Amino acid sequence: MLLTDSRDIYRQSECIRRQITTARLRSRTSSCLDGSVMASSLISRQFAFSLQKNLRLSAPGNIVSKAAPKTQVEFDYDGPSMKTSVPGPRSEELTKQLGHIQNVGAINFFCNYEESRGNYLVDVDGNRMLDIYTQISSIPIGYTLVNRPALGILPPENFPEKLTESLVSVAPSGMTRVQTMACGSCSNENAYKAMFIWYRYEMFASSGIVSLTSLFVSQSPGCPELSILSFMGGFHGRTMGCLATTHSKAIHKLDVPSFDWPIAPFPRLQYPLEEFTRENAQEEARCLEEVEDLIVKWRQKGKPVAGVVIEPIQAEGGDNHASSDFFRGLRDIARKHGCAFHVDEVQTGGGTTGKMWAHEHWGMEDPADIVSFSKKLLTGGYYHKDEFQADKPYRIFNTWMGDPSKNLILSEVLNVIRRENLLEEVTALGRC
Ligand SMILES: Cc1ncc(COP(=O)(O)O)c(C=O)c1O
Repeated sequence: MLLTDSRDIYRQSECIRRQITTARLRSRTSSCLDGSVMASSLISRQFAFSLQKNLRLSAPGNIVSKAAPKTQVEFDYDGPSMKTSVPGPRSEELTKQLGHIQNVGAINFFCNYEESRGNYLVDVDGNRMLDIYTQISSIPIGYTLVNRPALGILPPENFPEKLTESLVSVAPSGMTRVQTMACGSCSNENAYKAMFIWYRYEMFASSGIVSLTSLFVSQSPGCPELSILSFMGGFHGRTMGCLATTHSKAIHKLDVPSFDWPIAPFPRLQYPLEEFTRENAQEEARCLEEVEDLIVKWRQKGKPVAGVVIEPIQAEGGDNHASSDFFRGLRDIARKHGCAFHVDEVQTGGGTTGKMWAHEHWGMEDPADIVSFSKKLLTGGYYHKDEFQADKPYRIFNTWMGDPSKNLILSEVLNVIRRENLLEEVTALGRC
């Protein structure tokens, strides 16, 4: 749902309040869900009240003092109603569409959230079901006008279309698949998992599971000794896997155990560049040599490097740049040693370098296997080549898998970037 101004937000809050009141009244006669509905109705009263209070504080006075117009007809359901088998034909069609963009193995069916109310979830084929599980325990006050779907299992009808309009429309070269996530760290964390899963398939043409017992005690071979190579000064987030590849500031890492993964030097260029051409070329060659040495060393240690992760410009760890030749050389080394190449564009993506993706400046046809994003793209996630899609559902999964409302906002942001030629403007201003 795209809320365009404070008036819209206020109207929505009014509608929510009215629906919550209806749900509360209805809950008195509901027998099977009495406890949970009563609890949620108490919460919902509180929620509606504070939502209204907050909006009243933030919106201009003359808007909030008006009674909000009735924008939706209130209605109620008195039981389930099934019209097709589940998933129905429309859900099947949409699942097929979304399957061109991401893994759809966990999807139950597509939902019509406008028609869903209270405890009843309506699918795109018109089936109305009593949702006793509240999706993944994630619908706090029943279905109202504001719903946050668990995207991996119950996406809204327009999800494939909105993904296509937003993220897919700016996909990096060679990538048509995108997995949405919430933040930058969880995008990288899941991208690392995708690289590990891919690596095992490359090695063994299967997931390599030989004993389930090793898995549950987090031991090899089920949980193999693999590694990700990262760069000194790099920042990839603060969750456990990401933190093992973050080397920017001490405060991020202090007291937190980590993995024994290789860390290569990032070039330290001297400026002005034109005066240090030879020195900088030597510095970049030294770093690339070190990368190759580390890949070999970690393989010998029994912890092969499944992937290399790098920022096109180190941001959090300083404003550190390297030449396009350096990145091209690095990409070649990764390919030569069978390592996946992950470009973390959480900070650089979204147009601030004059291109949608900073790695476009390298001028490569095959610049990366995975490109992660967040921040200016408003939703987190990662693009990937086809072969980096996990083979089974729930291997790359969490409750939200992003937030569809962010795709709507992103579509508008991209429209503005295009309409106002902002990339060209950034490029022109950058030259001044
Ligand atoms: C390059 C890069 N990767 C990952 C992250 C982590 O993103 P988040 O803070 O959303 O977890 C950041 C955040 O600054 C970043 O700059």
